[in-house]
Amino acid sequence: MAKKILVSGVKPTGRPHLGNYFGALKQFVDLQNEYDSRIFVANLHALTSVTDKSELEKNTKDLVLDYLGIGLDPKRATIYLQSDVPHVTELAWIFECITTVPYLERAHAFKDAETKNKEINAGVFNYPLLMSADILVHDADVVPVGKDQKQHLEISRDTGEKFNRLFGETFKLPEPLILEDVATVPGTDGQKMSKSYGNIIPLFATDKEIEESVMSIVTDSSAGVPTNVYAIHSLIRDKESLDKLYEENRGKYKDLKEALIQDLKSFIGPMRERRKEWEESGDKVRDIVVEAGHKMRQVVHSKMMEVRKRTGLIHHE
Ligand code: ADP
Ligand code: TRP
Repeated sequence: MAKKILVSGVKPTGRPHLGNYFGALKQFVDLQNEYDSRIFVANLHALTSVTDKSELEKNTKDLVLDYLGIGLDPKRATIYLQSDVPHVTELAWIFECITTVPYLERAHAFKDAETKNKEINAGVFNYPLLMSADILVHDADVVPVGKDQKQHLEISRDTGEKFNRLFGETFKLPEPLILEDVATVPGTDGQKMSKSYGNIIPLFATDKEIEESVMSIVTDSSAGVPTNVYAIHSLIRDKESLDKLYEENRGKYKDLKEALIQDLKSFIGPMRERRKEWEESGDKVRDIVVEAGHKMRQVVHSKMMEVRKRTGLIHHE
């Protein structure tokens, strides 16, 4: 039996951190055997905020290496660029024509952008519909994402449903895979780990960066246990041995930070090495992405032909 289809993407907007990994990326690797996985670099979405050519190019290459570094296997998962499948922009346009403005105005991401900046580009407004196209064009069964993408997936389902209602059953409605039980990963200052707060531990940190960022963790404590250190540590060590360690070293913040540094080095080191190997593999990575784009265009072609027929965009056979 054919495997179920998994689709997901990440915007190429900078170096990923532990929060991104445990909140979203890790699922891609965990699920790649079970599903026909199609994982892309959301470079068209990134255009809503990045208008510097070299920055977008660099971030795109980096994200592909990040995918390979965390352990996505290009023999099992298809790693491609969103812009290599231009069908999604066509489909997004069609979705824009069946979606009302008030509906899109209710999107959290749009509302947040609006409170920060009045001059929002139309890409930000239409963002959820391009995302719907990314997903629906594949007839995806599941979409693993971080918690913050929950509403976008609801919009994707609503949009697929609306199209089906207007033009006949065409799209499968995808199920979100959201790790509800993963608590928000705290950063070095105890707030949510986020690029915009400058409190991150990079996923591919060097040993020096690991040492510096761990040493900078704010040690708020409760009964001798430094809560922020413990919370980050709990991501990479099982609860039993973690509790034993923190029990035995109650109040010894420096020693506990040292232990976290060691564990982070063992956790990050192999991923960083794998990323480096791919980085040094010559044209291999480029070939993988080009090939994947080609394959994905072929895969979505028949769905788009069906959409064009159903909407009356084709009057010849
Ligand atoms: P940032 O806040 O650093 O800009 P993004 O908004 O780019 O991160 O998030 C990308 C993905 O990583 C999202 O799916 C989000 O749910 C997840 N994520 C980001 N930060 C965290 C965190 N601190 N804890 C858990 N998941 C996170
Ligand atoms: N909006 C997602 C994010 O910011 C990225 C994304 C774009 C995506 N298209 C997608 C995720 C399709 C899953 C499926 O993280």
